[in-house]
Amino acid sequence: MAKAIGTTRVQFLRLACGSLLVAVIAMMKSTPAGAADEQATLREAAKGAFLIGAAVRPDLLDRGPTADLIAAQFDALTPENVAKPMELQPRPGEFHFDRADVIADFAASHGQQFIGHTLCWHQQAPAWLFQSADGKPLPREEGLANLRTHITEVMSHFRGRVRGWDVVNEAIDDTDAKYLRDTPALRSIGEDYIIQAFKFAQSADPDAELYYNDYNNELGPKLQKTVRLLNELKAAGVRIDGVGMQGHWQIGWPSTGEIETGITTLAATGMKVHITELDVDVLPRKGTSANITDVQRAAATTQENPYITELPAELQQKLAERYQQIFKVLLKHKDVIDRVTFWGVNDGMSWLNDFPVRGRTNYPLLFDRGYQPKPAFFSVIRTLQDRAS
Ligand code: XIL
Repeated sequence: MAKAIGTTRVQFLRLACGSLLVAVIAMMKSTPAGAADEQATLREAAKGAFLIGAAVRPDLLDRGPTADLIAAQFDALTPENVAKPMELQPRPGEFHFDRADVIADFAASHGQQFIGHTLCWHQQAPAWLFQSADGKPLPREEGLANLRTHITEVMSHFRGRVRGWDVVNEAIDDTDAKYLRDTPALRSIGEDYIIQAFKFAQSADPDAELYYNDYNNELGPKLQKTVRLLNELKAAGVRIDGVGMQGHWQIGWPSTGEIETGITTLAATGMKVHITELDVDVLPRKGTSANITDVQRAAATTQENPYITELPAELQQKLAERYQQIFKVLLKHKDVIDRVTFWGVNDGMSWLNDFPVRGRTNYPLLFDRGYQPKPAFFSVIRTLQDRAS
């Protein structure tokens, strides 16, 4: 009897351990919400679909753990600010490449692509490029010469180390009535300044891909105007390889249907689509503009800055779901999408802490302020992995 009881006990223990093991294995396999494979990286999970990138600042790249994370997670690096005209050529003929070089060199030594941003933009650019000292537009020939010199010098410097350049940024007007934005380059050179910029870029570095980049171009009428611009560039015989949708989106805007229409409409022009500056604003927001000068001057009120210590769990979950929906659409169109770049690495460094209201605590990216992966990170990883299986 005693023996029988002993045997039963052993059998019971064996059974119990066995079921526990089965349960643990099942849990590991099913990777429930928020528990995706801890070792998975974005660049691995997206392999075969599109490149995954991030906008970075040079100072992040010499901090050990941060640099390791950037090297492990991303296929492509875009300088967030240090390759803009103001940084590269603040005064005529005075070029400063050292800070952008840090990013290009880091990318090269970690098997990452370097993406140039941006050669011609009306923001973060010195006035002298297209204006005289008294603020008048420069004569066309002078404006053209400055545009040519800037593009040629910059592209020659990075030649062989760059995958592609945002040649022109945000040239299309936001209003329904007007086609092109009224910029210093347009006032000096005329409406063909975009065509000219692409021509200069094409001869400066024939191996670099050339992109046109803008925000809110998934929606009409900006979408229609973008198609018009891309067709005009093609008709003018200049090479353009891709169109950038910045992707400064919000929790509830735009709809995934609108994002999808944007992608398919732009891709129908024959261009590759790049999502170039992805982030998801979770804070209260008036309007949808990503124009950097549309900033509220007054200090943020409590209502405008509601989550100063942490993002409530419910919103954290909503953000994860929003990223899942976005990546499902992107994966559906992976054949026409070349790259998906996040505008920053962690929440603490996001430009959305200061836009469109200064001094807020925002949570738009996949890593938190301590570089820990958020539920949104695991949701993106899982969405990418599910496509593979
Ligand atoms: C932003 C940077 O993230 C900020 O640090 C800077 O102060 C302003 O510019 N569209 C673009 C980017 O093309 O270059 C902008 O980057 C964000 C909007």
